[in-house]
Parts: sequence; C-alpha cells; structure tokens
Amino acid sequence: MTFVAPTEEKTYAGTTTYRRPARPYERFMQEQDIPVHRGIGVRDVRELELRPWARLGGNAAFIQPDGTDGQWGMFVIEVPGRGTTNQERHLYEELFFVIEGRGTTEVWLEGSRRVQRFEWGAGSMFAIPPNAFHRIVNGSADRALLLAGNNAPPIMNIFKSESFIFDNPARLVDLAADGDYYRPPEDILADPVRGRAMWRTNLVPDVVDVDLPLDNERSPGYRRVEPHMATDAFFCFIGQHEPGRYSKAHRHPSGAVLICVKGEGYTYTWPREAGPRPWETGQEHLVKRQEYVSVGMVSAAPGGGDWYHQHFATGADGVRLLVWDGSGRSYYGWGAPGEELIASRVSVQQGGRSIDYEDEDPHIRREYVRQLERRGIASRMP
Ligand SMILES: [Fe+2]
Repeated sequence: MTFVAPTEEKTYAGTTTYRRPARPYERFMQEQDIPVHRGIGVRDVRELELRPWARLGGNAAFIQPDGTDGQWGMFVIEVPGRGTTNQERHLYEELFFVIEGRGTTEVWLEGSRRVQRFEWGAGSMFAIPPNAFHRIVNGSADRALLLAGNNAPPIMNIFKSESFIFDNPARLVDLAADGDYYRPPEDILADPVRGRAMWRTNLVPDVVDVDLPLDNERSPGYRRVEPHMATDAFFCFIGQHEPGRYSKAHRHPSGAVLICVKGEGYTYTWPREAGPRPWETGQEHLVKRQEYVSVGMVSAAPGGGDWYHQHFATGADGVRLLVWDGSGRSYYGWGAPGEELIASRVSVQQGGRSIDYEDEDPHIRREYVRQLERRGIASRMP
C-alpha cells in the first residue's frame, strides 16, 4: 500500500477504525484447528466444545478470557481412558489443574534418563518448569480432563519461532536428582514480601479440599494460600469465601482469571470509570456479570485499565476459587521496584483498591440476599 499524506479534505494520516491483526500466539491457536473460546468467563468448562488436537493428542480447546490476550494462555484437554498425551517441551512454564480423572505425569530433561513421575487425581494441580519434557498418562479407563495455563503468548510473540520454542536444547531447570521435585507442600510459609500464607511446591494433591489458612482479606473468614510453583513465573492462589458471604470489590488491571473449583457463585466486574456505585449513578450498563459452578471461570478485569471485581458465594459450602495469572504481574501489585505499595485490602479512601461494604452500591447487598433466599441459604454478612 502506498502512503497517502493528509490533505485539506482528510486532515489525518491513516484510517479512523481498523482491525487488530492476530499476534503470533493467536495465529498459533488458529493453526491448531481446535476451538478458541473467548468471553468474560465460562459457566462450566465441561460444557465447552473440544476437538481432536494433533499436537498433543486427545481432544482440546483454547480458552482466552477477555483481558488476558498477549499475557498468558489456557487450554482444556481431554485425555481418553488409558491414553497419553504426546511428549513435548517448550520454553514457557505450564500449570495443570485436574478437573476429572486419575493418572500420572512424567517429566524429564534432555539427555537425562531420570524420569520424575507423580500421581494425580481430580483436584490436583502441578507445574511443568520451562523446557522440561512432559507427558500426561491417563491411568484409568475413564477420560481425564485437565485445564492448562501457561505463559506461551509473550514467549511466542517475542521469538516467533516454533523450533526455538519447542525444540531447544537449553537446560533451564534442575529437576532435583533425589526425586523430590514433586513432593507435596508440608509447611505453610510466609511470602517474603507481604507475609501472607505461601507454599513452595510443584504439586498440590488436592486444591479442592485441602485446608486453607485464615487470611480475612476479602471477606470475613476468607481463607487463602499462594502456591509458588516451578520457577515462580506463573502466579496463582487458592481462596475461599464462607457460605452466605461475598468479597469486597477491589480493582486492578487485567491478568487474573478466577476458576471456581468448589461451590458456585457469580462475579460482578466493572471499569473504574463507572465509579464505586454504578447502579446508583446510572452506570449499570457498564457492569458485567458471570455466573459459574465448579469448574467455571471469570476474568477478574476483562477490559483495559483498572476494573473492579466482586465475587459472591451462593453455594451451601461457599465458594473456592483457584486464581491464575500467568502474566506474573499481580504477584506483588503494580509500581516501580522498591516503591512502597499499599495492600489491596485497604479501602479506596485510604489509598488502597477496595470498596468497603458500607461504601458499596446498595444494589449489591439487595441482589445477594435475593440470590441466597432463592436457594434457601442465610446471609452471614456483617
Ligand atoms: Fe483481583
């Protein structure tokens, strides 16, 4: 195309509207010829259409929740009974959460005969460090269904070479020679920056039912732990709201996706510009809502910029959320290194990012109580 300089009639260069071209990772997804599911969330991952995937074997689909484009990727894969995935390695880190089934995973490094092998079942989560070969083995006659998250998008968007990413001899990790790389967590530690509960592990046997330490950040009785896995390039935490309770709203840029692993609920999310009381101020049309059961998901901040989000437990057992953010950005918030940051639980008035219950839009409490009444569950909100 030849460049056309501005004229008196058309005073600007270029067009006013345009379509964003697909980036390398997005082209990679298209070439895989399996479905790509987009949107602010998914009510239940089990309802998604899957198709045979030549690369890994089994049936699969990509999921790219709104706001996560270019930051990190996700796919769901069904491994048939007694089946295995094709072995692969890649320069990005990958996490798996087991939705259904039972099996083992094998992990090894190039040139090493030592294979790390560990078992998993429904509710397990494990990490594959960058450039380790791995293969998923379904040990039962029933299908296994796994959700994977990885930071393939930035790696592919920068290097643009499949052979560099998938066939690279670099050794980036050491899978401990004594074979305990995949030992489940034993002690709850304090994260070295903020002092919140942390595990150092590459395998969590049961994300769904493991006891969680008290945190209280987002709602009274809220429980939370951060598993720091593999090379720590992929942020995750497990959080649980008690029955009859909901989180305070808080805001930040996109990246995090909440995966409901137990119970059911819904999430409201709205742009910062709509203010702390969007219903009262006539900005209701800017609020998005996602309902989910186990295993559904929602993008915490589906648009650009800061978005508020607020999560509501409507199940008799409350709601447990596994939060993934493969961008790694939200580990410790946003800002320059060394800059003093304020915990996100602190209210907006005091320089934080949360809306206190007494300052929230009255619609929120009314709606929540209505939802609970419909299910015969008592509100336990202060
Ligand atoms: Fe958040």
